[in-house]
Amino acid sequence: MSRVLLHTCCGVCAGHCVELLLEQGHEVAIFYSNANIAPAAEFAKRLEAVRALAAHFGVPVIVDEPDHRDWLEKVARGFEREPERGGRCPRCFRYSLERAARAARERGFDFFTTTLSVSPHKSSKTLFAIGEAIDAERFLEIDFKKRDGFKKTNAISRELRLYRQRYCGCEFSLRDALARERETGAARAETLTDAPADVERAGALLRAGALVAIPTETVYGLAANAFDETAVRRIFSAKGRPFIDPLIVHVHSFEQAAELADVSHPAVAKLAAAFWPGPLTLVLPKKPSVPAVVTAGEPTVAVRMPAHPLAQKILRAAGVPLAAPSANPFGYVSPTTAEHVLNSLGARIEAVADGGACVCGIESTIVFVGEKIRVLRLGVVTRERIAEALGGAFEVEIGKGLLEKKSEETPAAGTPEEGAQLAPGMLKKHYSPRAAVSLWESDAPTPEPGAKTALVFQARPAGNVPAAPGGAEIFWLSENGDQRDVARAVFALLRRLDESGFERILIERSPDFGVGAAVNDRLSRAAAK
Ligand code: TXA
Ligand code: MG
Repeated sequence: MSRVLLHTCCGVCAGHCVELLLEQGHEVAIFYSNANIAPAAEFAKRLEAVRALAAHFGVPVIVDEPDHRDWLEKVARGFEREPERGGRCPRCFRYSLERAARAARERGFDFFTTTLSVSPHKSSKTLFAIGEAIDAERFLEIDFKKRDGFKKTNAISRELRLYRQRYCGCEFSLRDALARERETGAARAETLTDAPADVERAGALLRAGALVAIPTETVYGLAANAFDETAVRRIFSAKGRPFIDPLIVHVHSFEQAAELADVSHPAVAKLAAAFWPGPLTLVLPKKPSVPAVVTAGEPTVAVRMPAHPLAQKILRAAGVPLAAPSANPFGYVSPTTAEHVLNSLGARIEAVADGGACVCGIESTIVFVGEKIRVLRLGVVTRERIAEALGGAFEVEIGKGLLEKKSEETPAAGTPEEGAQLAPGMLKKHYSPRAAVSLWESDAPTPEPGAKTALVFQARPAGNVPAAPGGAEIFWLSENGDQRDVARAVFALLRRLDESGFERILIERSPDFGVGAAVNDRLSRAAAK
C-alpha cells in the first residue's frame, strides 16, 4: 500500500478524490495548504468542511499554517489584475504544490497530488505540468474530474452538507466572483432536501408567496402558489419572461386538476390514465379560480401532474397548485440539476429543493385538448404514444406553440412591466447556450481552428476516440445513441460546455422520430440565430 498526501483546497472538492484514492487502495492523508485564501474566516470555514469530510472517510488532516502575506508577495504581486484562470493561477498552483511536495518528502509519503483537478474550472494539463516539474517521481497524475468526478464530489458534499464556497480562494478571485454574481444574478438560495422537515419548509415558503425551485422528472421548475398573483408575477421577473407566455400549473392529483380546468373531454381521462403522473402537460379550458396572469389571459390553462417523488411531496405539503415554468433565465438552457438553478437564478429565489438530476432531461410534451388534439411541444411522450393511448378515437396533429404563434402575429406584443418585452427572433432562439451552436448530420465536420470548439456526437465514437480535427474537443451525448439517454444529457452538456468556456459547439442531430424529434426541436432552437 502506498501513502498519498492529497493537497486539498476545500471540503467539497476533496470528497470524490479521497473516495477514489481509497478505492484504489492508497493510504490517504489530506494536506490542507491554502495560503491563497482570504479572508482568514474563509480559510477556517473550508477547514471545518475538510475536517468533516475527513472524519467521514476516517483519514487524517494535516493543516499547513497559512502565510497569506507571503503568498501575496510571491504569487500575486504584479498579477493582481489578472482574471481568474489567467496568469496568477498557475503561480498559485505551484506555490501550494511545492509545499505539498516538501511535506510529502519530509513526512515520508510515497506520492502527493491535488484535488484541484476535480474542478472543471482548472486545467489538469497545467496542474500536471507543474506537479511534474516540482517532483516528477512523487507527483501522482490523476485527473479527478474524469468519469463525472465533479458531479460525484458535489453529490458527496451535498450528502454531508458541507460548506460550499462561492469563489476560488484569493481576494482577486472573490472580486471576480462578486462581479459575476452581479452580472448573472447568481448567489445562494437556500438548498432543501427531501427530508420531511425540508419538505414542510418548502410547502410553507410556497404558501407564504416565496419562489422555490422544484425538481421534476423533466427539468427543474420555478414554482410559486398559482393562486397568489404577486408570487406568480415574481416568477416572470426572476426569469425575465414576457407576460404573454403562460405558465404550466402543477398538481398532485386528478382531483386537483379538476379544480383548475374542465376535464370533461373524453381524451383527458385517457391521456391522464396513460401518462399521469408523468411528463405530459394538457392544455384545457380554464376555471375562473386560475388568475389571468398565470394563463397570460388565455381561456385555457396548461396542467401537469409531475411524477418526481419530491415534486409530489412538495405539492402536497404546499396544499396549493404550483405554477412553474422551467427554472432558467428566459431563453437560456433549461436546468436539470439543483446546481444549474443556483448558478443562474440563485440570487432571485428563496430556495431550491434538490431532487438530483432529472431523468427525462427535456421539458414535458404539451398537448392541446379541444376539438382537435394538437401537440404543441414535443417531449419524451411521443406523438405515436399519444395516438396509441387515444386508441384511434381522435386524430393527433402537430401544431405550433402558443408563443411562437403570438410572436408571428404580433412580434413585439405584451406589457413589459417587470417581465421582458418580446423581441423578434427571441422565441425561435431558445434553450441557447452562450456559445454558438450549429448542427450537423451523417459526417462530422472539420472544425475551423481558432475558436475553442466542442464536437459533439450522438453516441460514443466506436473504437478509440478519434483525434479531434482542428484542435476541437470531442464529447458524446450517450453510449449508444439511445434517445432517452441523449435527451437526459443534452441540456446538461450545453451548460457544461458554456461553463468550460467553449465558444463553438458543433452537435450531431438526432434521428428525426420519437424522442429524437423532441431532441431535434431543442437543438434547432439552441442553434437558431
Ligand atoms: O416539463 C415541463 O413542462 C417543465 C416542468 C417544470 O414542469 N415546465 C416548463 O415550463 O417547461 P415552461 O414555462 O418553460 O414552458 C411551458 C410552455 C410555454 O412555452 C407556454 O407557452 C406553454 O407551455 N403554455 C402554457 N400555458 C399554455 C396555454 N394555456 N396554451 C398553450 N400553451 C401554453
Ligand atoms: Mg422553459
